[in-house]
Amino acid sequence: MRITLHKSLLCMAAVVMVFPLASLAQQTKADFDARIGMESHIANVTGHAKNAQYDYRRYCVGCHGDRGDGMGENFPWVDPKPRDFQLGIFKCRSTPTGTLPTDQDLSDTIGRGLDRSNMPPWNIFTEQQKADLVAWVKHFSPRFATEKPGTPIQIPSEPEVTADRIKAGREVFSRVQCWKCHGVTGEANGPSASTLQDDLGRPIAAFNFTEGSRPKCGSSDQDLYRIFMTGLDGTPMPSFADNIKPDEAWDLVFYLRTLMSEPSKEKAIAKQLGLKPVDTNAPAQPSGQQ
Ligand code: HEC
Ligand code: HEC
Repeated sequence: MRITLHKSLLCMAAVVMVFPLASLAQQTKADFDARIGMESHIANVTGHAKNAQYDYRRYCVGCHGDRGDGMGENFPWVDPKPRDFQLGIFKCRSTPTGTLPTDQDLSDTIGRGLDRSNMPPWNIFTEQQKADLVAWVKHFSPRFATEKPGTPIQIPSEPEVTADRIKAGREVFSRVQCWKCHGVTGEANGPSASTLQDDLGRPIAAFNFTEGSRPKCGSSDQDLYRIFMTGLDGTPMPSFADNIKPDEAWDLVFYLRTLMSEPSKEKAIAKQLGLKPVDTNAPAQPSGQQ
């Protein structure tokens, strides 16, 4: 037991040296103990880290590990790798890129699970159990002791879908170059797709819109809006909050629906229009994205 622990510590130390992002010192038991009073506040429920120890040990430790560093016994077999909670970096947030998620975001993620990963949806827990687990997840990272979560982005109410909006969304997809990674047809085969790595240097695939899998961070129209306006931190999927205006963001959501395999109003309209994939040889337009 101790030997495995030391090995994983050494391994983490190497990662820390190579990747500046992970330059947080490895946390010790004493650090965790100092943060055992961590709370979460979700609607009218208060979560307490110390009350989640049993559930964590029973349901989470096999992947996320005793120290929350993602080095549980399943680590070697799982791809993508279980998250290292010590880094305090989360994909699914309602908050701007680079900021901490809200407690509600973390609770939603636990309930939803992460599609295309071994992280299952957890719908066996009460709201109290989830709130306690959220506080426990937070207690592994020093970030939550010193930083507040970001302010959730504003999402204007959803407009009516129209053919013009879908065409406008196609222009946004072209201009900000979603296709570089996701491909012009959304099949995750853009020119950059094969070289993508997450912030820890691990290969990562872009999302394939066409094969019917669910986005990790939710599949409602609001969720899609939030995904590209906040980005999936720790991955090459950036935030486009600086490049896409709120109204254009809705157009883009509608266009994304035309790429997805599920039948939708948007898909039917695109078919009627005979909408073609974007032409990447068209004259380049100004854009801040790679
Ligand atoms: C079978 C393995 C497995 C188990 C068990 C598991 N997870 Fe995960 N978890 C993962 C993997 C893999 C990821 C990373 C997925 C990714 O990055 O796409 C993850 C990521 C997460 C994240 C980060 C989400 C984000 O937005 O970045 C949270 C929070 C989380 N897990 C909480 C939990 C909790 C709480 C439990 C126990 C109730 C648990 N997990 C059990 C595999 C697991
Ligand atoms: C530099 C490459 C890159 C660019 C550019 C890019 N993406 Fe992504 N995108 C990714 C990667 C990689 C993932 C997968 C992340 C993961 O699974 O953790 C992803 C995932 C997604 C997802 C699924 C998220 C989820 O919750 O599973 C959506 C939706 C998405 N991208 C939309 C877009 C849109 C819209 C644009 C343009 C505005 C865009 N992406 C631009 C790399 C990129």
